[in-house]
Amino acid sequence: MRTLAIIKPDAVRKNVIGEITAKITAAGFRILGMKLMRISKQQAEAFYAVHSERPFFGELTDFMSSGPIVPIALEKDNAVEDFRTLIGSTNPAEAAEGTIRKLYASSIGENAVHGSDSEENGKIEVGFYFSEAELVANER
Ligand code: CMP
Repeated sequence: MRTLAIIKPDAVRKNVIGEITAKITAAGFRILGMKLMRISKQQAEAFYAVHSERPFFGELTDFMSSGPIVPIALEKDNAVEDFRTLIGSTNPAEAAEGTIRKLYASSIGENAVHGSDSEENGKIEVGFYFSEAELVANER
């Protein structure tokens, strides 16, 4: 199963890309694709379209387009749920000890990482950032 992780602009600014990817691989995820890039406000709006009616949509898309991000396509059995366990609750104040958000997130908006919320969204979100050719090139 695949899931999409994104190291968000706050974590890139904190210089913890290495720390976060080390936790991801130590937890048994295989990296199929990874890139450092910047998305426009319009691309952030497209990626988070399901949240377009939420009051925080403007803040979320401003933030996600405010600096470089690192999308990572991951593969593992039960990847979606296991990745959400590894990152912890959306609100870092509620995140379990040792989770990526507990360690590196600042607030509910600037929460260090994104993880897909279902198997179907995992496929769609991986496809938003990576072509299939980029991913299969890394399959062993
Ligand atoms: P993410 O997993 O990337 O998916 C949607 C994002 O919306 C979520 O992480 C949070 O960063 C953000 N979000 C959720 N609730 C709020 C909120 N109340 N204020 C700002 N951002 C929020």
